[in-house]
Amino acid sequence: MGETLLELKDLSVRYTTDGVISRAVNHVNLKLDKGEILGLVGETGAGKTTTALSLLKLLPKYTSEVDGEILFEGKDINKMDDKEIRNIRGSKISMIFQDPMTSLNPVFRVGEQIADVIKIHNEGISLHEVEDRVDNILTMVGIPPSRKREYPHQFSGGMKQRIMIAIAIACNPDLLLADEPTTALDVTIQAQVIKMMRNLQKELKSSVILITHDLGIVANFCDKVAIMYAGEIIEYGTLEELFDKSKPHHPYTEGLFGSIPNIQEKTSRLKPIFGLTPNPAELPEGCHFHPRCEKCMEVCKSGEVPTYRNGDYRCQCHLFAGKEAAV
Ligand SMILES: Nc1ncnc2c1ncn2[C@@H]1O[C@H](COP(=O)(O)OP(=O)(O)OP(=O)(O)O)[C@@H](O)[C@H]1O
Ligand SMILES: [Mg+2]
Repeated sequence: MGETLLELKDLSVRYTTDGVISRAVNHVNLKLDKGEILGLVGETGAGKTTTALSLLKLLPKYTSEVDGEILFEGKDINKMDDKEIRNIRGSKISMIFQDPMTSLNPVFRVGEQIADVIKIHNEGISLHEVEDRVDNILTMVGIPPSRKREYPHQFSGGMKQRIMIAIAIACNPDLLLADEPTTALDVTIQAQVIKMMRNLQKELKSSVILITHDLGIVANFCDKVAIMYAGEIIEYGTLEELFDKSKPHHPYTEGLFGSIPNIQEKTSRLKPIFGLTPNPAELPEGCHFHPRCEKCMEVCKSGEVPTYRNGDYRCQCHLFAGKEAAV
C-alpha cells in the first residue's frame, strides 16, 4: 500500500445560475497515492473539470458551492484561506488546462513565463539559478533552451502544449492535474506528449490526475481509472481491472469501451451509447444512467444505487447485487 496524497470524501459541487441549481459533482470518494496516475474518464459534462478545479479552489466564488472534504496531505483544501491555497497552487498542485492556446500569455516570452512560476515559489532565488532551472525544464519537455526568448505564437500547437507542461512542472508539484492535455493535438503529437509526460512523471515522482475521454491514452498512461457519469464515480479500479473484458463492468463503462474500435477484432463496430449525458439541473431519479441503460431494471428507476466492492475496486450498479459485498 502506498502513501495517500489526496483523498476526496463525499465531494459534491453545485453551480447556481439564474436560480437554477446544477449538481455537477455528486458524492465523489477517491483516493490517490503518492506517485500514482489516475485517469478520470467520462463524456462531456460529466463533471471532470469541475472536480479538478475544486482541488485548486478555482471554482467561481459566488455561483458554486462545495461540500465534503478535499484532504491533501491530510489538510482540507476546502477549508483553506486564500493565502494557504496560493501557497499550494503551482508549488504542490498544478494544473495543465484544457485549452493551452488561451492559457499562455501571448505578450511574454516563454522563458519569462516559466521563470515567473519559479520566482513566485522560491523567494530569494538568484537570477542565475532561475535561468538554469528554466533551461533544465525546457530540456525536460524537449524544447531547446535557446528558444526561451521566443513568444508563444512562434511555437506549434504541440510545442505550446509542452510549454504549458513546463510551466505546470516548474515547481516540481506533488500533484499534477492534466485536463485533456492532448485533445487539441493531432494523433502523432499526442503520443509524443503523453510519452514525455510519462517520463517526466517517473523522474519527478509526482502523482497525476489525467482527465480524458480517450481510453487509448488511459491504457498507455494510467495505474488507476475512475469512470465518471453525471458527477458520480460509477466504476473505479486498476487499469487491469477496468480493461478486463472477462469481468462484468458498469453498463456505462461497457458502452464507453464498446465505442472504441478494437484492431484485433475485425467484426467490432463503433457502438456509441444511445442518448445524451443528463443535464445536471435535472438528474434522473434512481441510477442517473438508467434512461440510457440497455440493462435497466425496475429497481434502477428510483432510490439510491448501492456500491459493490472487491478490495479497492468498486462499481455502483444494481446488476452487481450478490456478486460482491455491498458496502
Ligand atoms: N461555471 C459554471 N457555471 C455553471 N455551470 C457550469 C459551470 N462550469 C461547468 N458547469 C456545468 O457543470 C457540468 C459539468 O461540467 P464540467 O466542465 O466539469 O464537465 P467535463 O466533464 O469537464 O466536460 P468536458 O469533457 O466537456 O470538458 C456541465 O453540465 C456544465 O455545463
Ligand atoms: Mg472539462
